[in-house]
Amino acid sequence: APRVFSGIKPSGGLTLGNYLGAIKRFVEMQGGDFETIYCVVDLHAITVWQDPAELRRATREVAAGYLASGIDPETSILFNQSRVSAHAELGWLFNCVARVGWMNRMTQFKEKAGKNAEKQSLGLYAYPSLMAADILAYHATHVPVGDDQKQHVELTRDIAAKFNHDYGVEFFPLTTPVIEGPAMRVMNLRDGTKKMSKSGESDMERINMTDDADAIAKKFKKARTDPAPLPETVEGLAERPEAKNLVDIYAGLANMTAEQVIAEYAGAGWGQFKPALADLAVEKLAPISSEMARLMDDPAEIDRTLERGAERARAIAEPILARTSEIMGLLR
Ligand code: TYM
Repeated sequence: APRVFSGIKPSGGLTLGNYLGAIKRFVEMQGGDFETIYCVVDLHAITVWQDPAELRRATREVAAGYLASGIDPETSILFNQSRVSAHAELGWLFNCVARVGWMNRMTQFKEKAGKNAEKQSLGLYAYPSLMAADILAYHATHVPVGDDQKQHVELTRDIAAKFNHDYGVEFFPLTTPVIEGPAMRVMNLRDGTKKMSKSGESDMERINMTDDADAIAKKFKKARTDPAPLPETVEGLAERPEAKNLVDIYAGLANMTAEQVIAEYAGAGWGQFKPALADLAVEKLAPISSEMARLMDDPAEIDRTLERGAERARAIAEPILARTSEIMGLLR
């Protein structure tokens, strides 16, 4: 059966980018042809320093974000990564399959490390190998992600192919990244050439899933744009990154294509479009943020949900890890 795996790092608050690029798509893939497995990837978060108490809180908050957005922990398997030791174990095995040269090509490491590669944790460097383990511990065939994770999913295919080749088996599937929809790369509201991220310096650059209606309205009002009105066709957005971003966000929230948004707002000024966008975002996000707050009032219940999900995850991942070890010649 086709199986979906995806994950989100608990390294700060969830953004509109995480929602449109990932969580909303996860909910859409649930309950159909796929078996769906969704993870809070805490082992990935600690590749950079995390305050322990804050990590615990953020792990529960990402879980609350999944649940509040419509992930059903009965239909899907929902858990946090460190509860299932197969991830770390398979990650080690893959460290011995992946090549240093492959890691050196990862653009995300280069962006995060900047000029300070030598000072980064070894974990941050090996991160894509652990990500391959997350996916392949379940033999996942499809991985819904935002555009920025495409290279990591491609590396997962390289690891699977090299393992299968080196050991002469057809064991790991070649996973397909699923990157579909109008808002797979939501940009920073103050600079349309940069990605919206959890860790950007100013809170005005991003919409957080926990923002209230006033904050959302203010951030869209202050969002940078060029002065021209919305174009008559989507081609007119080509050299206008900020305008394109706001149209894409609208499309993602409204379940429309960018073409449909432009058809509706062709020639409109920002004074008309931005309030409409803010209203739409509040309509979609306010129920989620209030449900997240309600869930966060009972952390023990979130923990129980994650542990139940982890039990189901272990039942799939442990036999795959055992078979991998056996193929590699490890006595167990
Ligand atoms: P993370 O935690 O940075 O982001 C979680 C998901 O949100 C997407 N995303 C975005 N999509 C559109 N626009 C944006 N501005 C934006 N920002 C984030 C990401 O593409 C991602 O889908 N390495 C992963 C976590 C991970 C994982 C995995 C994902 C670990 N193991 C296995 C899939 C499968 C990461 O850091 O995502």
